[in-house]
Amino acid sequence: MKHTTDSLRKKWLAFWEARGHKVIPSASVIPDNDPTALFHNSGMHPLVPYLMGEVHPGGTRLVNAQKCIRTGDIEEVGDATHLTFFEMLGNWSLGDYDKFDQIKWSFEFLTKELQLPLEKLAVSVFAGDSDAPRDKDAASEWEKCGIPQNRIAYLGKKDNWWAKGDVGPCGPDSEMFYWTGEGSAPENFQKTAGNPLWVEIWNDVFMEYHRDKEGKLHVLPQKNIDTGMGLERTVAVLNGLKSVYQTDAFASILQKVSEISGKKEVATNPLADTEDGNSARIIADHLRASCVMLGDGIIPSNTDQGYILRRLIRRAIRHGRKLGVEELFCNILAKTIIDKLSSAYPELKKNESVILDELHREEMQFLKTLEKGEKEFEKMLCHPERSEGSLKTITGDQAFNLYETYGFPLEMTVELAAEKNLKVDIDGFYKAQELHQQKSRAGSEAKFAGGLGDRSEESVKLHTATHLLHAALRKVLGPHVEQRGSNITPERLRFDFSHEEKMTPEQIAEVEKLVNEAIASDHPVSWVETTVEEAKKAGAIGLFEHKYGDKVKMYSMGDFSREICGGPHVEHTGLLKSFKIKKEEASSRGVRRIKAVVGA
Ligand code: ALA
Repeated sequence: MKHTTDSLRKKWLAFWEARGHKVIPSASVIPDNDPTALFHNSGMHPLVPYLMGEVHPGGTRLVNAQKCIRTGDIEEVGDATHLTFFEMLGNWSLGDYDKFDQIKWSFEFLTKELQLPLEKLAVSVFAGDSDAPRDKDAASEWEKCGIPQNRIAYLGKKDNWWAKGDVGPCGPDSEMFYWTGEGSAPENFQKTAGNPLWVEIWNDVFMEYHRDKEGKLHVLPQKNIDTGMGLERTVAVLNGLKSVYQTDAFASILQKVSEISGKKEVATNPLADTEDGNSARIIADHLRASCVMLGDGIIPSNTDQGYILRRLIRRAIRHGRKLGVEELFCNILAKTIIDKLSSAYPELKKNESVILDELHREEMQFLKTLEKGEKEFEKMLCHPERSEGSLKTITGDQAFNLYETYGFPLEMTVELAAEKNLKVDIDGFYKAQELHQQKSRAGSEAKFAGGLGDRSEESVKLHTATHLLHAALRKVLGPHVEQRGSNITPERLRFDFSHEEKMTPEQIAEVEKLVNEAIASDHPVSWVETTVEEAKKAGAIGLFEHKYGDKVKMYSMGDFSREICGGPHVEHTGLLKSFKIKKEEASSRGVRRIKAVVGA
């Protein structure tokens, strides 16, 4: 192949480095401090603070290849174009060079570096509206470079405006297209821009604005350039291939899928329009994304990023079985994936053993219930209600049972159902889930209240000690520590919290010391009534995933601890006298348990 993902990535970095850009490593796929997104989905995403004016340690010209995850279209994976994980090549000017320079360099990169024939290139620029003027400057610069006027289209906001989200940096952009059809490209791009044979390969964003929460646009203090080129897609286009699955990014993975399944076709024809071909592409895409997520520290779970990861792995496993693979296969593919990606992203090699262990664990766990779940699903199909013919729907309760008892993510049930020409009552599923959550929430609140049961002096002291312990654990182990459970009897407290490793004797001693110091400081224990939002702002910790009412009680113990809680507590911490950890052990995976006493 003329171009590979490795060769294009190298060319890209070298081109911009030669023009004064600092090569920066890819950020993790998990955004820092951005509650609006689960994953980075473009190269600019980790750079938002710098686009807004913060000084970047690498300077004002940056370049990289960024790991990106887009999960919006999980169901579409397996077709020719969608990827869950992809690499985005990007270069940035943080208030440094302007759009004229960027357009000149873009033209040079496309026509000289990549040697793309001018006859197959076209560009679009922003047509203008009440937010920003028609981008005549960009158009005339492209023309000066040599793009014929009839290959420059003026398009509206939908096509030529790029924003990170509803709020954040944004601006007009100019996209570059390559003609992938047979024969010569249409002369007039304005009239043919919608033709899917014109494939967008690069986007130059002139990021000069910021949209605030009210939707108002403000001019940024600095004029930035932000660009993005999808690596796998561009490699496909450059090689005259129809799909990313035909590129080197997938060759070795599909080859392995073919070996372990004995289905030759999935490697020799990566675009096979067959169920097998579809399954192979899903496996390759999902496990590639899974390895990247695991390499960045995400582990399978039932919430947030962890749940996306779990769904990807489980869907890959099911498609492995559809291909007839009986044995465990995730690790075999993961090794191939890590080998392929780790020259660009060394963290994958570095974290190889964690990636393999977690994948193995998830595969084992899911295989235990998958077969039983499939049988249960078959039973649902034979359910007498269904034989009416009119009821071609899996009910919400049935889908929820598959989820809760057998670990079937909803879209897996939807997919299984679709294979049998059935629908799933998706609203019903969410209703069943909500009902279940309400019940278990009521259960855990009852348990907590029950834990305080007698409200004896001892229990109340231990409850106050639990807050001090929680705060101390976060100080010693880090802010990832969150309460996972609490149970108090007059004799001892028991506290479960999120933390991966066994605590060292030094950490235990440090936690004890901090709690004892807080006791010796005799902090007053006080509370105010407030809202969850205000409490969070004040730095309070609490079980935020629980639905609190409008008003909550926020307890403070001096500056040491601040927590949302119903009480009751002692009036000042000195009453606890002293604190001792009796036991530290595993409670479940990723959760540790401490038993402790006070007042000796
Ligand atoms: N941020 C722009 C994009 O993702 C470059 O297309």
